[in-house]
Amino acid sequence: MKGIILAGGSGSRLQPLTKVTSKQLLPIYDKPMIFYPLNTLLQTGITEILIIIAPDHAGDFLKILGSGKEFGCKFTYEIQDHPGGLAEAFIIGKNFIDDDNVALILGDNLYEDDFSEAVKSFQSGGRVFAKKVTDAKRFGVVEFDAQNRAISIEEKPQTPKSDFAVTGFYIYDNSVVQKAQNLQPSPRGEIEITDINNLYLQAGQLDVAFVPGEWFDTGTFESMFQANVFERTRQMSKKT
Ligand code: G1P
Repeated sequence: MKGIILAGGSGSRLQPLTKVTSKQLLPIYDKPMIFYPLNTLLQTGITEILIIIAPDHAGDFLKILGSGKEFGCKFTYEIQDHPGGLAEAFIIGKNFIDDDNVALILGDNLYEDDFSEAVKSFQSGGRVFAKKVTDAKRFGVVEFDAQNRAISIEEKPQTPKSDFAVTGFYIYDNSVVQKAQNLQPSPRGEIEITDINNLYLQAGQLDVAFVPGEWFDTGTFESMFQANVFERTRQMSKKT
């Protein structure tokens, strides 16, 4: 299994901070934001990791992350010239992924849980991780039938069909590359990971698991603040 951290985008919701650095390098308590999704990947045993970054501040990522040796892994870097959607990670990462399966994590997502089992037990299809939220409109939202089976996923719906958001960690088999290449851009001009998930779902190949622990999408000041408080509390409780 290969790993990808997608750390592109312009971080427009975190202006003016993101004028001078990238969103994913801003601190969450005592570390740059990207260290959290990186640790989530490392915990699962993945050692080959592609980091996709925007052209602005690309040098800062190299300075902080380096070759990967320090983390016991190997980093490859690619540039996403324009924010073309999360699914673009599989097109940019085509050569890196090669014939392998791949786990994608968003550079601004912070998880409490360890996904080792989910990665080790993965065989084929797609696996996503849903979490109950209070503001589902901001996310990809899973619709369930009466038997609690996932039947559709909608990207940022006006009227969410459930409170379960698809979070920013995804595991796919190698067919994800082909699927991404065949996607058409959505009305917001991006190729959507939600469209990939729906392709797997329609084929009966999407496993929707749940996130038991805390999860933060730290792309806003409010969620960043909550993530800071969570991480501080977690570290303090380990010391006592
Ligand atoms: C993206 C995805 C969305 C997902 C979210 C998780 O949204 O498009 O489906 O629920 O990540 O963080 P974005 O944060 O890019 O708006």
